[in-house]
Amino acid sequence: MKKNTRVIKNALIIASCIVLLLTILPIKSNAASETSPLEKQSWPFKGILGHFDKTSLRRGYEVYTQVCAACHGMRFLHYRDLRELGYSKAQVVALAALNEVEDGPNDEGEYYSRLALPSDIFISPFPNDAAARVANNNVLPPDLSLMVAEKAAQGGADFIYALMIGYKEAPEGSELKEGLYYNTAFKGQEIAMPPPLFEDIIDFSDGTEASIQQMGFDVAQFLAWAADPSLEQRKRIGLRVIIFLGIFLIIAIMYKRRVWTRAHS
Ligand code: HEC
Repeated sequence: MKKNTRVIKNALIIASCIVLLLTILPIKSNAASETSPLEKQSWPFKGILGHFDKTSLRRGYEVYTQVCAACHGMRFLHYRDLRELGYSKAQVVALAALNEVEDGPNDEGEYYSRLALPSDIFISPFPNDAAARVANNNVLPPDLSLMVAEKAAQGGADFIYALMIGYKEAPEGSELKEGLYYNTAFKGQEIAMPPPLFEDIIDFSDGTEASIQQMGFDVAQFLAWAADPSLEQRKRIGLRVIIFLGIFLIIAIMYKRRVWTRAHS
């Protein structure tokens, strides 16, 4: 009888350990991939041990500033946030200073432009929404700060990647309206954004070849970071909680064993 209970207890401990392991390991959910037709990329920030790949984030920032920033703002980001991509303080000052911002009024009551500082928010390409519409065929290029979160239901970063590589020739027989482009990832397939990426449209400062896929992947990861910059910290805390609970479970089992051995003897 005693032997049987020990076997059961051991089995319980092993089962708890397996449950713990399964929580820690990233699991691919089949249910999610059935609802979304997008091809899933292997993002380094997925899973409980997930983290952003800083070299990819820096390339993504290069894609954003050199291509997307011509039309899209990111008003929830400050230049100082770029420190999280691994840039030094001096590099962030230099990157900010590549942009001009309107400031004022000064002592003479006048508005003036000056170089941007790390404490400034990312400059917007247009002074207001009306000007942005006029420049883009009457369609507003949305702010990209929270885009990955807004598109969570459509796949988040996977959607951004699919959109970047989704420009195709329109199928025969279908007529595109003036100013619209065929994109397989966009709802209704007709998007007002002209294809933003072409092979080698930028020179990555780390020498990586700028294929459309590479730029799409990097900018999608950059936008994922922008929409959820505290992801890594949250995952670290989550992992610590799980480890704590695991240790707590083992202590609780050991304690229970001791109490019961004493009660039986
Ligand atoms: C020439 C201007 C222009 C450039 C450059 C540009 N976009 Fe856009 N973008 C637009 C416009 C206009 C829309 C709105 C499209 C629509 O609603 O049909 C848009 C929409 C989007 C959307 C939302 C799509 C949706 O499903 O609602 C995303 C995401 C996006 N752009 C990402 C990017 C990224 C990333 C880059 C840089 C690689 C970029 N854009 C470069 C003009 C631009």
